[in-house]
Amino acid sequence: MFTAVKPKTHLDEIPSDLFGAINELKKELNAVVLAHYYQEADIQDIADYLGDSLGLSQQAANTDAEVIVFAGVHFMAETAKILNPDKLVLLPDLAAGCSLADSCPPEAFQAFKAAHPDHIVISYINCSAEIKALSDIICTSSNAVKIVNQIPAEQPIIFAPDRNLGRYVSEQTGRDLVLWDGSCIVHETFSEKRMIELKVEHPSAEIIAHPECEPPVLRHADYIGSTTALLKYCQQSQSDQFIVATEPGIIHQMEKAAPNKQFIPAPAMNNCACNECPYMRLNTLEKLYLAMKNKAPEITLPEAIRVKALQPIQRMLAMS
Ligand code: 13P
Ligand code: SF4
Repeated sequence: MFTAVKPKTHLDEIPSDLFGAINELKKELNAVVLAHYYQEADIQDIADYLGDSLGLSQQAANTDAEVIVFAGVHFMAETAKILNPDKLVLLPDLAAGCSLADSCPPEAFQAFKAAHPDHIVISYINCSAEIKALSDIICTSSNAVKIVNQIPAEQPIIFAPDRNLGRYVSEQTGRDLVLWDGSCIVHETFSEKRMIELKVEHPSAEIIAHPECEPPVLRHADYIGSTTALLKYCQQSQSDQFIVATEPGIIHQMEKAAPNKQFIPAPAMNNCACNECPYMRLNTLEKLYLAMKNKAPEITLPEAIRVKALQPIQRMLAMS
């Protein structure tokens, strides 16, 4: 009898106990798994360190591991590589980019910078290595206000690439920042109207929001902060219901940290799942396993860019 031979697919390489296999590979490779809160729950659960962009870059700066497996997006893994040129930095899916980073192309930004020659450049970490290399200081959503407050009042500042975070920082510091016109597709998807309807249904719920959201959403927020700050806030608050205006991946940690509280994802404009970051969600536990097993895809970047991008990151770490 003729039996068709089934072609081997990459799925044949996936062990049934993925958690066990990844933990074995961590030991074998002397690897650390760093994950952002926007990753799927399984990845968050296997990570050695879970955090926001600042926490992740601090961990990357201090790790003794030989291999960094970055469960996040490209600019995050690239930052880890800038800090660790001699380590192997893996990203489970190289296509995990960022709409905000893409909204700031280096050539156009160079021209923008040239048009403001007396300004220093503070860039949000959500940008490419080329933009970091054109910047004076990097910041994240958790330290942007603190960093801008350390710059002498008479020093003019360009803030790039997120116009929403920039506007928020300008309001908080009273500084007149020159903003690059970039944004994040996820944080601009929330509907003010649907959020108000949700608040009417749940009048005691607090609205908590990431500063990458647009002003109409931030206007209704009881608390605004980075992902780590939002996580801490919902634990400390007296409230037991929250409408969460950021990528809903973080709700996994919120539910773990405060199991008796209720977390409602802020709704998107259409009835879609567009509040999930399509880039972050490209990483899966299977791809993370395969990246460790195959030691690829690896993050690489030209040394000249790396060296230029390192200084503004180091300034951020010192000023945080
Ligand atoms: P934080 O990690 O600083 O909270 O920023 C969220 C984000 O959009 C990461 O891409
Ligand atoms: Fe980029 Fe927005 Fe996704 Fe963060 S949530 S990685 S800023 S697209």
